[in-house]
Amino acid sequence: MVEYGGCSAKISPKQLEEILKYLPLPIDPNILVDIDTHDDAGVYRVNDNLALVLTTDFFPPVCSDPYEFGQIAAANSISDVYAMGGDPVLALNIMMFPAAKLPMEAYAEIMKGGYDKASEAGVRIIGGHTIDDFPPKYGLAVVGYVNPAKIITNSGAHPGDNLILTKPLGTGIIMAAQRLKMVSEADILEAKRLMKLLNKSGAEVMKKHDIKGATDITGFGLAGHALKMAMASKVSVTLNMGKVPLIGSTYHLIDDGCIPGASFRNLEFVDEHLLSSPGLDYNLKMIAFDAQTSGGLLMSAPADKTEAVLADLHKAGLESASIIGTVIKRDGKYLHLSS
Ligand code: CO
Ligand code: CO
Ligand code: CO
Repeated sequence: MVEYGGCSAKISPKQLEEILKYLPLPIDPNILVDIDTHDDAGVYRVNDNLALVLTTDFFPPVCSDPYEFGQIAAANSISDVYAMGGDPVLALNIMMFPAAKLPMEAYAEIMKGGYDKASEAGVRIIGGHTIDDFPPKYGLAVVGYVNPAKIITNSGAHPGDNLILTKPLGTGIIMAAQRLKMVSEADILEAKRLMKLLNKSGAEVMKKHDIKGATDITGFGLAGHALKMAMASKVSVTLNMGKVPLIGSTYHLIDDGCIPGASFRNLEFVDEHLLSSPGLDYNLKMIAFDAQTSGGLLMSAPADKTEAVLADLHKAGLESASIIGTVIKRDGKYLHLSS
């Protein structure tokens, strides 16, 4: 049932914008972060030392193994708490499952994968809700804690910062290529390993170095999430696509025509804010729009901290963490892409 799975199944960012503009935002001084800055999660102050981070994510299968799907979905849901500098604590299961079409063992395996990944993150799943639906969908609603003075948001990027990405790109392209049987087993394994990998260690490094601006890279692709960061921070962002680490054969799969539909929807959303350098390589451009499932953190590190942050990320096992761009003063378009 893996046809249109993972974060690429998100509604297009353009359509989402159309819908959200009809929705009034609640006004309350304790709401510290809401959808106004397109952040990964909402944040609500309980008292001066404690705020709650709330988020949810769910999607159709991105791989055919139900246990792995559960792990990936949970890692992805919890990631939005890490991206905000929070500590995930509690979660609820959200499950849609076609009971008449699939064995109940698959249901149990998805939940077990989610449970194990949540446990690894120190998250307790204390309830949930199930609907009979096809195709299956799974994810979590997650609650985390954060010190109100230490929230990391899309709006914390400053001119002069370097942008560091903690996981290689290409999960959208690799998983689409798997469905077309165009890609090696090694690349599929690596994509799945990365999607299952919690953003916990990357978040710990961000907290240690007091990083203010970050997001995780998921359905809107590197370019889409970088654009949201640029808009919220009122800056421009330069992405050097040649420096972006890629999973295995990602680059060459584009030569073979493997560009998922979600990439074009993401491009359509970003296009009016995009300045492409004249020599920009087409494949690298399309990789910027590849919808990631459970992608890495994109953090905005002040120049004097960048080397130490990078060294700590590598030490934490995120060996492909790299500087992939810079934050500059608002200069025409929000997003500048070069090779
Ligand atoms: Co996110
Ligand atoms: Co999310
Ligand atoms: Co209920």
